[in-house]
Amino acid sequence: MAILITGGAGYIGSHAVLELLRGGFDVVVVDNLSNSHEAAIHRVAELAGKPVPFHKVDIRDRDALDRVFGTTPIEAVMHFAGLKAVGESVGQPLRYYDNNIFGTIVLLEVMKKHGVRTLVFSSSATVYGDPASVPITEDFPLSAVNPYGRSKLFIEDMLRDLCRAEPEWQIALLRYFNPSGADPSGRIGEDPNGIPNNLVPYIAQVAVGRLPELAVYGSDYPTRDGTGVRDYIHVVDLVLGHIKALEKLATRPGLVTYNLGTGRGYSVLEMVEAFGRAAGRPIKHRLAPRRPGDAAECWSDASRAERELGWRATRGLDEMCRDVWRWQSNNPKGYA
Ligand code: NAD
Ligand code: UFG
Repeated sequence: MAILITGGAGYIGSHAVLELLRGGFDVVVVDNLSNSHEAAIHRVAELAGKPVPFHKVDIRDRDALDRVFGTTPIEAVMHFAGLKAVGESVGQPLRYYDNNIFGTIVLLEVMKKHGVRTLVFSSSATVYGDPASVPITEDFPLSAVNPYGRSKLFIEDMLRDLCRAEPEWQIALLRYFNPSGADPSGRIGEDPNGIPNNLVPYIAQVAVGRLPELAVYGSDYPTRDGTGVRDYIHVVDLVLGHIKALEKLATRPGLVTYNLGTGRGYSVLEMVEAFGRAAGRPIKHRLAPRRPGDAAECWSDASRAERELGWRATRGLDEMCRDVWRWQSNNPKGYA
């Protein structure tokens, strides 16, 4: 029996496929390659020393998805496929709702048809909206401040409704804080399309000379150095949390929700500093106005995952920056 990975050619999905294979699981990957490269799949296969069954399928294509379930015995799904750029979602809300929400509905219907009822869903700390305080626990009020966030929140609501109506489902909602890092091999990593929106890939591209300098968005926040504070979690720790969640689901039906973060925050300037150490060169940056919609601080209380899953992030900031730098310096243009 295999684990189906939707979005398995993407940044987090490719790391999940690799760790699952290393953990002895069988996998099958579907991805429409709208934000990824098939090369990631080949590299994962090379690193794992095993072939990776891959189907270029859009999860909204019911017949194609049905064929995948019809030809491979699947026991559970890790659902990473989705669009994730906040700014883009503001300009193209329908595209986001169609891809993320409708895509998930089709996936759930096809799972149900084939008797597969175990799902691990990629949610996000974005469902906490603008949090009133930090650290954030899973019981904080939920809200959405943009279409991307609304798509995640709606999918969470939909999954909660589904578990209430059909208690045999086993679903884990995993709310990621700020995934970063890369497999230590330097063979797979984050390869954003165009100019990165997120801090770490932006810094990495400055370090490698693809971008001239980083704009630090806001230096007047009520934080220790005035810049925004986030909970950066190494992608390998993050995907190991998914495997723990899958093991947990095997022991009980119903829905569980976990923050996946480190429980501590770093400021933008601390990240610039740490990355500079890893790359052995200073990261050129300038202070700039705040980016609209950004919270001053967002970091997790990740103690529920530690208590209930026996999982916690073990990879620190320097290791994360070193791994990103190995990926970026070995692949200055990503997979291209
Ligand atoms: P990514 O864009 O690298 O990976 C997503 C993958 O899904 C891509 O390979 C893309 O081609 C694929 N995809 C998109 N729509 C599809 C569709 N309709 N059918 C088939 N494949 C489709 O993004 P990522 O950073 O790996 O994120 C994975 C998941 O985690 C996403 O759902 C994202 O919203 C969520 N998440 C990411 C972050 C983050 O900072 N990276 C934070 C919180 C949550
Ligand atoms: N930042 C800069 N300059 C940049 C990019 C970012 O100073 O060029 C700052 C931001 O202002 C923020 C911090 O770096 O203070 C982190 O910004 P990111 O864009 O990397 O991450 P966010 O926390 O804003 O958002 C990310 C995802 C969201 C997700 C959230 C929680 O983009 O979709 O993490 O998971 F909801």
